[in-house]
Amino acid sequence: MKALVTGATSGIGKKIAEKLSERGWELILTGRNETMLLEMKEKLGNTEIIAADLSQRSDVMKVYEFCREKNIDMLVNSAGYGLFGRFEETDLDDEINMINVNITALHILTKLFLRDFKKRDSGIILNVASAAGFMAGPLLSSYYASKNYVLKLSIAIYEELRRAKSKVRITVLCPGPVDTNFNERAGVSFSAKPITADYAAEYAIKKALAGKLFAVPGLSIKAAVIGQRFVPSKLLAAITYNVQQAKKKSGSNERALDK
Ligand SMILES: NC(=O)c1ccc[n+]([C@@H]2O[C@H](COP(=O)([O-])OP(=O)(O)OC[C@H]3O[C@@H](n4cnc5c(N)ncnc54)[C@H](OP(=O)(O)O)[C@@H]3O)[C@@H](O)[C@H]2O)c1
Repeated sequence: MKALVTGATSGIGKKIAEKLSERGWELILTGRNETMLLEMKEKLGNTEIIAADLSQRSDVMKVYEFCREKNIDMLVNSAGYGLFGRFEETDLDDEINMINVNITALHILTKLFLRDFKKRDSGIILNVASAAGFMAGPLLSSYYASKNYVLKLSIAIYEELRRAKSKVRITVLCPGPVDTNFNERAGVSFSAKPITADYAAEYAIKKALAGKLFAVPGLSIKAAVIGQRFVPSKLLAAITYNVQQAKKKSGSNERALDK
């Protein structure tokens, strides 16, 4: 069995790659960090690597072309990042870059691999969304919106596959806080105890191999995902604002919000 893993140089994607390798899977790993890709190749064996910046459509296509004749059984879309700040203040270029990675690259790879998987009526897509995908996220607005896209796209594809009686499967991972480099990149700190990337990865793989649509690791996040359905969206946004505000890094050079 062979998997393509994006975001394989760090955090959840890296752990998913390691755990698939332990299960005997061959891997194709991608990310921008070539040193880490080479390290992973060395460590795991049975691994090919391709460095790519997924904010660039040409690089997304390069990754697909690299894989297309290689009988990929599982696509793992884990590459992604967040940006903290009021919507009018966050850097537009960085935000468009984020949308390109979180949404556009995932969209393209999901579509192209889904076509291939449907032709042979087998294959698994594991999309890494977030518990953020279930709600609006003031102070991380475009990140939350990007994860809403990933979640809703995955649910819709699941239903299309179900109606077509396809054997192709899609799973969407929706974790709350996970201890990775995510916070550093987003410019936030944890306001709740994070789960480990190891736990999130193991949970996601089990759900994906079992053909489940949702993978929501951790009891408190499961409860939050269920609970938010009963809260009006304006109230939920107000609560989320406070949660995000509490995540703002002390000592960060961003000016204090709401002061
Ligand atoms: N950590 C959390 O609390 C949390 C919670 C819910 C969901 N998630 C989601 O989990 C996924 C993985 O994040 P993580 O927590 O594992 O964070 P991470 O440790 O920062 O890993 C992010 C990965 O994305 C890759 N990436 C970022 N920009 C890229 C680009 N332009 N081109 C190619 N690859 C790029 C990075 O690779 P390079 O730097 O090598 O390019 C890295 O491998 C993301 O989609 C994130 O939204 C995280």
